[in-house]
Amino acid sequence: MLILNKTAGVFKPSKRKVYEFLRSFNFHPGTPFLHKIVLGIETSCDDTAAAVVDETGNVLGEAIHSQTEVHLKTGGIIPPVAQQLHRENIQRIVQEALSASSISPSDLSAIATTIKPGLALSLGVGLSFSLQLVGQLKKPFIPIHHMEAHALTIRLTSKVEFPFLVLLISGGHCLLALVQGVSDFLLLGKSLDIAPGDMLDKVARRLSLIKHPECSTMSGGKAIEHLAKQGNRFHFDITPPLKRAKNCDFSFTGLQHLINKIIIQKEKEEGIEQGQILSSAADIAAAVQHITACHIVKRTHRAILFCKQRNLLPQNNAVLVASGGVASNFYIRRALEILTNATQCTLLCPPPRLCTDNGIMIAWNGIERLRAGVGILHDIEDIRYEPKCPLGVDISKEVEDAAIKVPRLKMNL
Ligand code: KG4
Ligand code: ZN
Repeated sequence: MLILNKTAGVFKPSKRKVYEFLRSFNFHPGTPFLHKIVLGIETSCDDTAAAVVDETGNVLGEAIHSQTEVHLKTGGIIPPVAQQLHRENIQRIVQEALSASSISPSDLSAIATTIKPGLALSLGVGLSFSLQLVGQLKKPFIPIHHMEAHALTIRLTSKVEFPFLVLLISGGHCLLALVQGVSDFLLLGKSLDIAPGDMLDKVARRLSLIKHPECSTMSGGKAIEHLAKQGNRFHFDITPPLKRAKNCDFSFTGLQHLINKIIIQKEKEEGIEQGQILSSAADIAAAVQHITACHIVKRTHRAILFCKQRNLLPQNNAVLVASGGVASNFYIRRALEILTNATQCTLLCPPPRLCTDNGIMIAWNGIERLRAGVGILHDIEDIRYEPKCPLGVDISKEVEDAAIKVPRLKMNL
């Protein structure tokens, strides 16, 4: 409450009280206008990340601790190991993001944290740390859906209005959705089994790329992209998955098994043991990357046609956003560009460091929710994390019923 001092017959507030009052609107002396500022915290998988972002999209501070190298050595994410690493790093990472921002925690408008979907043990660390902070600072809490955050990141880096189509391809997820508003999604299709990043990670592991001098510290998908540049995809003739299914779903398990068989065959031909690097590893990487791109493009093509047929997207200049770790792959981006050129759409992708998991996307999702006035909690009693949580309203059956035939696109990459 603003208390006024009575001086010489006029009510004059003290300077300190004026600042206090203005600060309740997030005013800072020297700052030209009022401002929302959110701290975002991400621990849904294997990155401990935090960032402070303001409502104009300025990243005031950020910090990240990646567990990739540890999990590469153990051959995949072991949840209790991920949990332990989050516990060891979360305090430092949040502190680093706040210090870099030079703002006082009391100036935050809210704290936003990923609470779904993800690894239970990892989500739990971020949530309990955040709830403690929320209690100490007495700030509103904004629970974040990890895939919503990936989808909205583009609005931080480009001016994009709703609606737009989003393709989210990562290590844990694979989906196509129409984004109609901050928390208003229509789910058009998703992976029936594993995500493309998971498949690429498994192929990279089977190819022992961790032993390859050029890719030993790269995630599986990044290693495949790197090696593919030196390979010839035409050495293998692979048919993309779900060729006959006229929907927008994806599948990557069959492809993974097929590549496994090819690797076993090549090991026999080259006379080497599992664990050694094949001389044809680059060709295999090029082939798997190409088929992955073709499969993703085909499903996305159908989604564009469906949305245009139902007038869910404009006929011209509709926007396709691709995000998630796998969308940092430039070969896949080029394939998507062939599609958007052929369908009079515009392809937009966040920069690679914002495609993979980060704290900025969580803080930005918090800003989006603050601005829209949705999902801002003042009571945190019943908050739980949710390892599984679908995104939006599922209309994939409707998409399948429309049975849209997709014209052939020449993938000259
Ligand atoms: O979005 P993200 O950081 O975490 C999840 O939410 O899953 O994505 C990580 C995934 C990993 O599977 C990684 O191999 C893959 O993204 N990835 C890539 C590339 N960089 C990371 N896949 C293909 N090409 C890349 N350049
Ligand atoms: Zn992610």
